[in-house]
Amino acid sequence: MTDTSPAAGTGTADPEALRERAVASLVVARERTMLLTSCVEEPDLTAQHSPLMSPLVWDLAHIGNQEEQWLLRAVAGQEAIRPEIDSLYDAFEHPRADRPKLPLLAPAEARGYAADVRGRVLDVLEKAAFHGTRLTEAGFAFGMIAQHEQQHDETMLITHQLRRGPQALTAPDPEPAPLFTGPPEVLVPGGPFTMGTSDEPWALDNERPAHRREVPAFWIDTTPVTNGAYQAFIEDGGYDDPRWWDPDGWAHIRRNSIAHPLFWRRDGGQWLRRRFGVTEVVPPDEPVLHVCWYEADAYARWAGRRLPTETEWEKAARYDPAGDRSMRYPWGDADPGPEHANLGQRHLRPAPAGSYPAGESPLGVRQLIGDVWEWTASDFLPYPGFRAFPYREYSEVFFGSDHKVLRGGSFAVDPVACRGTFRNWDYPIRRQIFSGFRTARSEDV
Ligand code: AVJ
Ligand code: FE
Repeated sequence: MTDTSPAAGTGTADPEALRERAVASLVVARERTMLLTSCVEEPDLTAQHSPLMSPLVWDLAHIGNQEEQWLLRAVAGQEAIRPEIDSLYDAFEHPRADRPKLPLLAPAEARGYAADVRGRVLDVLEKAAFHGTRLTEAGFAFGMIAQHEQQHDETMLITHQLRRGPQALTAPDPEPAPLFTGPPEVLVPGGPFTMGTSDEPWALDNERPAHRREVPAFWIDTTPVTNGAYQAFIEDGGYDDPRWWDPDGWAHIRRNSIAHPLFWRRDGGQWLRRRFGVTEVVPPDEPVLHVCWYEADAYARWAGRRLPTETEWEKAARYDPAGDRSMRYPWGDADPGPEHANLGQRHLRPAPAGSYPAGESPLGVRQLIGDVWEWTASDFLPYPGFRAFPYREYSEVFFGSDHKVLRGGSFAVDPVACRGTFRNWDYPIRRQIFSGFRTARSEDV
């Protein structure tokens, strides 16, 4: 029942190293927040670019408010700075579509508030003891808040992608990669493995605890499904054939006239897509992006395959047959570096399928971490022994059959919020997120 991975990264017991890591994680998150909220003019910060999203200025103050609630009030026992704004930035009180109408802090005020909170947090952090309570153990609350900010940074990047108008963000493209010519799928041997974690210090509640699962042998795609492969599904009439679709998905795509990934359009003989304000030809060798669970599920059925379960995905990503143990990442226990994965918004797109050989799993599966979030077949459910911590609204209220699990993280996920155990979830119709997928099949099929 033990997770034998050495707790690398945050797992050090040295409080000075923990302090440095907590500060660095918070600083990196804030630099990204500032980039995402300073690259457009004020009207773009307060506008609603899509009913699916908050105005950017809501995310900005919400980031500061969560940080205040957890690090200044819960950890340091301080009084609320502006108690009257808590309810404005409570995600459960106001649905995203309603947020532009709230009396939100204006951009300069929101920036000032977040900076004020951060200044006080850095003071707290200077003297913090990383033990004594579950919240402070190994700096958990600081890690949780750095992850929270990075998650909202990804959310803001989605808002940027939905925004109409000229390009505001730029980043270098990933290295071009030679066409991937390795085996298209990999056999993951049957048998038990350890899923989840009990000793990764900054793992969130839904990743816990570590537990054994029996997994029959299965085949999984070596790389995520590419635009080129997905185009073959479109050209074959995949969107017009109910045989491939979950009945709810079929009703959904018919009702909404969905016939290709979000942001794509046909121009004569080719597919174009809009990406952060620029229109480009859809690159055939890149993992497909902006598909919903129903589209991923339909493609897999068309291809004679299925989506991997969440358990299969994690076994493919963490299981090391040589050591018969689960690792933190496909490549081992080391924190992600630029050689391993496309993370952290270094690029504004996924890398070509087959990239990052240094990040492959022991069995040879590539790009499990980074590039695109990968839809799995599974509903978002608690692991046996789950305990909500530190608040029910992070995970517990979302458990059930309404949400499907996504794994692995996209190019827009920061390393601090990405692990072999990290779980994301969304409704099966959502596709403004940076979502793609890979397929699997049972060994005997
Ligand atoms: C884990 C990405 C589904 O954005 O809804 C942010 C993360 N939770 N603030 C979300 C989250 C609270 C969450 N996801
Ligand atoms: Fe939040």
